[in-house]
Amino acid sequence: MDDVLNEYHSIQEQFNANAHIVICQGDALARLRQLPENTFKLVVSSPPYNIGKAYEKQTSLDDYIEWQKDIIREMLRITDQEGSIVWQVGNYVDAGEVFPLDIYFYPLFKELGMRLRNRIIWHFDHGLHASKRFSGRYEVLLWFTKSDHYTFNLDAVRVPSKYPGKLHYKGEKIGQPSGNPLGKNPSDYWQIISNEWETGRIEIPNVKSNHPEKTEHPCQFPVELIERCVLALTNEDDWVLDPFGGVGSSVIAAIKHNRRGMMIDRDASYNKLAKERVNAFQNGTLKIRPLGKPVHQPTGKEKVAKIPELWLGQNQGQLL
Ligand SMILES: C[S@@+](CC[C@H](N)C(=O)[O-])C[C@H]1O[C@@H](n2cnc3c(N)ncnc32)[C@H](O)[C@@H]1O
Repeated sequence: MDDVLNEYHSIQEQFNANAHIVICQGDALARLRQLPENTFKLVVSSPPYNIGKAYEKQTSLDDYIEWQKDIIREMLRITDQEGSIVWQVGNYVDAGEVFPLDIYFYPLFKELGMRLRNRIIWHFDHGLHASKRFSGRYEVLLWFTKSDHYTFNLDAVRVPSKYPGKLHYKGEKIGQPSGNPLGKNPSDYWQIISNEWETGRIEIPNVKSNHPEKTEHPCQFPVELIERCVLALTNEDDWVLDPFGGVGSSVIAAIKHNRRGMMIDRDASYNKLAKERVNAFQNGTLKIRPLGKPVHQPTGKEKVAKIPELWLGQNQGQLL
């Protein structure tokens, strides 16, 4: 795994096949229509959820889905025959009712002939506390491929085995290690990344400034989340595209591993931030949480891990 860039690349604002980095301001659908077919090995994004965030105008769920249908059709056209689309979504919430977006998105991809390979649960331990339903603690990554012949580099994303010393207890290989010397399959439940991302939130009250990657964007990807997708689903020099690229996390994940990265975002200030982050990455000054960094475990001695004096005598979490 090589985290060092081979060479410094200039940032282009329009796609061209010889470029390495493209940061393109504009409307996703309009820009997607200008891109050449069968080009991107990985299209990965977290689309606007239509929940009224600063960067989106909330519409009805039906209108939102219609718009996304057009986006998905275009994304499929530009995806390489051996390529993947990874769609990271959470919930649309209307008057307290929850609509899990992956349920709405799945048929849109399926109708176009894409094959679901995994529905990955990205679990995090902290977030908003609900009072009229259980607090939401996960989002989903839908991984679709364009065909049955697709790039999947499992060895590039293996994680350490829990019991590497486990041996075959019968058969021809009896007594030999039963696992894989490179580690185990990371599974479709991704917790390490989110734990780490979220754990910082507990320990230092200033949420936004705590995680080393945090910018003014309200919901940016941790680079590490996309690195896993890049390493598993693309090869060096392949193109990675994020059509709702925000502050450039997917582009950084791509170039960090010697892939070519493109993003589209209609917001000028996010484009500017994305360019600054990409350049800072290339200069070696961008702070990124390293891929695979061990998960931080609170010791219990931290001030925030202790029950406040005001609550002493009350039962915390009666079921546990
Ligand atoms: C959920 S955020 C993605 C954040 C991104 N994953 C990151 O790591 O920074 C969605 C992004 O879509 C952009 N956006 C919303 N509508 C758009 C449109 N029609 N065309 C292009 N970008 C759009 C917003 O500006 C926002 O940055």
